[in-house]
Amino acid sequence: MKIMVTGGAGFVGSHLVRRLLERGEEVMNLDALKYSGNLENLQDVANHPRYTFVHGDICDAKLVAALLRERRIDGVINCAAETHVDRSILDPGAFAQTDVIGTGVLLEAARRAGVGRFLQVSTDEVYGSVETGSSTEDDPLSPRSPYSASKAGGDLLVLSYWTTYHFPVVLTRGSNTYGPNQYPEKFIPLFVTNAIDDQPLPLYGDGRNCRDWLSVYDHCAGIEHVFRHGAPGRLYNVGGGNERENIDVARLILQHLGKSNSLIRYVQDRPGHDRRYSVDCSRVRALGWEPTVPFEEGIRSTVEWYRTHESWWRTIKSGEFKAYYEQAYGHRLREGGGEVKGVAG
Ligand code: DAU
Repeated sequence: MKIMVTGGAGFVGSHLVRRLLERGEEVMNLDALKYSGNLENLQDVANHPRYTFVHGDICDAKLVAALLRERRIDGVINCAAETHVDRSILDPGAFAQTDVIGTGVLLEAARRAGVGRFLQVSTDEVYGSVETGSSTEDDPLSPRSPYSASKAGGDLLVLSYWTTYHFPVVLTRGSNTYGPNQYPEKFIPLFVTNAIDDQPLPLYGDGRNCRDWLSVYDHCAGIEHVFRHGAPGRLYNVGGGNERENIDVARLILQHLGKSNSLIRYVQDRPGHDRRYSVDCSRVRALGWEPTVPFEEGIRSTVEWYRTHESWWRTIKSGEFKAYYEQAYGHRLREGGGEVKGVAG
């Protein structure tokens, strides 16, 4: 198959490109190389005979239409997205642009080109905060951040193409993903890399928000599985089954690095911070997928990856990231006045 993976230079996208190549597929990676897109993530496959890279944006209707038609693409997997909640609070427009408009442009071009399969990579955040129980695919959407609202908008557009045109779409809603090559604005790589440098770990609110952690390898396996076997017009939750409170994840990271819990700094909470996410994955399990990486082992090897790939993240942290970190964390860390609450033990 000839598969177009959009956002293939990003975190999930790059792991997915590698996985599809390993399975014998031909892969075209379309990536706009915005701040978190990094071709270094795919250095090992850059010269692979079944891999091509095109620098471009999913919002560019002419370009995507030409690529899909001329290169005779069989299937599209849309990983291109603005994904960071904190950035969506600082700059919501970019999220509506890529996650809604961009998805719409790509979808329409794929329909017109007669592409046989379109998978939208989405998120469990569209269900909103889940106080008890777990979200099923039939639950109502209740997104609460500009990021999750934009993803929900994209999901609805994609679903409408099945209802309206019988265009064979499938969607995955993944839970919090972690692993190598994740841009260090996200919780796990930020905390690991800050801890390596003995910098404070800025824990939002009371640190008891809960996320369901999914290894990037399991996430990509889930995406591939749904791409191949999912029923058209259907949504599939893909969760790791590892619900942990943030404080416990922070302590685990510090333990692996042999660092003190006193690095944890409680800071001003994220506005509208969702308390908990939890997804019911019976539907994708019935299709034959299940997660395989135990969380403790996944965290251990992820910490090890950042420890042994310092040049990868130091290059990022000394670039654009610096200004972002000051904007997002400067006041929080200064306001905290160095106070560290309840981290003993
Ligand atoms: O649930 C899937 C989603 O998971 C994906 O769709 C998003 O793209 C991805 O960013 C992630 O969203 P979160 O907002 O849950 O992930 P993040 O890594 O930003 O934060 C995880 C938790 O850690 C959350 O409760 C906020 C907290 N946190 C995060 C950061 C960056 C902190 O306490 N301090 C921090 O500095």
